[in-house]
Amino acid sequence: MAASGTGREAFGSRAGFILAAAGSAVGLGNMWRFPYQASEGGGAAFVLLYVVLTLILGIPLMLAEFGIGRRAQLAPVGALRKLAGRAWVPVGYMFVLAGLLILSYYSVIAGWTVRYGIEAAFLGFAPSSADHFGVVASGGDAVAFHVAFMALTILIVVGGVKGGIERASLLLMPMLFVIVAGLALWAATLDGAGAGYVRYLKPELDELMNPAVWRAAASQAFFSLSLGMGGMLTYASYLKRNQNLPESATVVAFTDFGVAFVAGLLVFPVIYSFALQGAVSASTVGALFIALPSAFQAMGEAGRVVGTFFFAVLAVGALTSAISLLEVVTASVMDEFGMSRRRAAIGTGALVTLIGIAPALDTDALGLMDKIAGELLLIAGGLALALLAAWKLRAEVREELLAGASPFWQRQVDRILAVLRWVVPPIVAIVLFFSVIETLSAVRGFFAG
Ligand code: TRP
Repeated sequence: MAASGTGREAFGSRAGFILAAAGSAVGLGNMWRFPYQASEGGGAAFVLLYVVLTLILGIPLMLAEFGIGRRAQLAPVGALRKLAGRAWVPVGYMFVLAGLLILSYYSVIAGWTVRYGIEAAFLGFAPSSADHFGVVASGGDAVAFHVAFMALTILIVVGGVKGGIERASLLLMPMLFVIVAGLALWAATLDGAGAGYVRYLKPELDELMNPAVWRAAASQAFFSLSLGMGGMLTYASYLKRNQNLPESATVVAFTDFGVAFVAGLLVFPVIYSFALQGAVSASTVGALFIALPSAFQAMGEAGRVVGTFFFAVLAVGALTSAISLLEVVTASVMDEFGMSRRRAAIGTGALVTLIGIAPALDTDALGLMDKIAGELLLIAGGLALALLAAWKLRAEVREELLAGASPFWQRQVDRILAVLRWVVPPIVAIVLFFSVIETLSAVRGFFAG
């Protein structure tokens, strides 16, 4: 256990923390959800809106989590009790619940990607992608790969902050950046690349007036930046006061955006060079697990090599994200019940594995869980965090954001807090309102069959 005076574990280096936070952010959300949402939401218009929301919602909210976490030196439940009082403890438990639910279906999707990667490497892509996806995504096969992926996640979390999480991030994240960039360069050489870029980044500026596109962009920002459930808070609780928090948040947010943007430059040319747009508009999952594999299959040997790298990189991104989701739950149990890391990680990981059997057997259940936990709970959590950091705990958070910051970033702290106080809560409240309505109708739809 790394000493930080209190005996609490700590990150070993500044870069280690930044890569771990970026590892949490960069995941399935970047490679799968972002390109798809951009093409649905007006292309370049969506990308522009997304950058603006990252600046005015994402970075301030990430700093709310960083500030509260480093101040408290505790995982969410304990942090809120210590800094804000017992009335806020239920919010901490809401975060833990969100972590349990998100990880349980996230791991199912991650299991599919692992399976595609292994099959690409050893067997090649199946001739009929749609049929094959039906086999991969349901029943015992899906459960088995979900269990295997959870076992790997648990193993790393058992290794601790420095020996598990930081070490895995320092190794895996640079690898991910290089492979994603290499794949995007390769995609630029394809015949259909131009048409793919046009479809991805078409400037449909009237979509900027569409509230549905705003809601989609805001919830994408929450999910992609791992905000609203105390994930960033928990990582920051392992920091000492020498970390430049505003700068770190900016680096993490732009790394996350960069990977998402480049993923689109990869996915769309591949799909358009094989005229597979039909499979894309059918569903988000369709783009990733049906359209891309059939393109890779059509490319023969080259497609097999590229496809292997593609699914490997997806699995790597998913792993560093899954680690952060499990860490929130594990660290909360450790702090609350004084349990050892090993027992807490195995216990909470086993619970997630069990819950995940439902979405592994039923993709409709998976979609519903994503609506409830991956959107609604995160947005509600984000609102709570903004109110807490910019109103109730403003003085403490301000002090925390100043400590360790360079003079340039110190000058930005009051601006960031003003945005967190006056701009973030109203926007997030409006998004929350629409998200509640949408989720209710999704729940009704699910139970109506
Ligand atoms: N951000 C990750 C992705 O884009 C997923 C993720 C990890 C996450 N930790 C989170 C989402 C916490 C919400 C909250 O794939």
